[in-house]
Amino acid sequence: MSGLTNIVWHESNVTKKDRQEKNNHRSAALWFTGLSGSGKSTVSVALEKRLHELGIHTYRLDGDNVRHGLNKNLGFSPEDRKENIRRIGEVTNLMVDAGLVTLTAFISPYREDRDGARALLGENEFIEVYVKCSVEACEARDPKGLYKKARAGEIKGFTGIDAPYEEPSNPEVIVDTEKQSLEESVQVLVTYLREKGYIV
Ligand code: ADX
Repeated sequence: MSGLTNIVWHESNVTKKDRQEKNNHRSAALWFTGLSGSGKSTVSVALEKRLHELGIHTYRLDGDNVRHGLNKNLGFSPEDRKENIRRIGEVTNLMVDAGLVTLTAFISPYREDRDGARALLGENEFIEVYVKCSVEACEARDPKGLYKKARAGEIKGFTGIDAPYEEPSNPEVIVDTEKQSLEESVQVLVTYLREKGYIV
């Protein structure tokens, strides 16, 4: 039976637009995608700090954190990753509705799943940020020692080793963490948000 039986949508008297006006900035999702170790968490943490200092209302959702709570019943099969991203998309949509610049840092390896999140959000509310870094460089960094475990066969279905990562075909922003410093990547994103009128 559908969960929608006998459920009626209720509108609030305070709208997303009202909240954005009070905040003095638009709300949107900055959807970071990339391999494990590519720098999604590092760049999004640094960007959030900068935005916070600029007076922007933000919230950050991170794979390793969300998998401790909301999504602790999910693993890394293609189906579970799909459900992981579906739930994050829904939560992100709520946060954008709440007026926040929402930063999400999930591998989100499947194009179709990322596009699902994009479709859920309003026009210009989904900013796909491809955190570009080769598997070789991520493996050399191996901040959590997981590539080593994957190579040793201790983790099966590890993204980039024996599970796929589908590169974004048309991301709004690319940050290349092999070529750019952290500060440069943050600056690229702040400039994007300013030029597109999300923040002043
Ligand atoms: S996603 O594919 O469903 O988007 P998510 O971003 O939530 O992944 O979680 C990725 C993190 O889980 C990685 O940074 C890594 O720490 C850990 N991890 C554990 N097992 C795997 C795996 N098989 N593939 C990728 N990451 C894994």
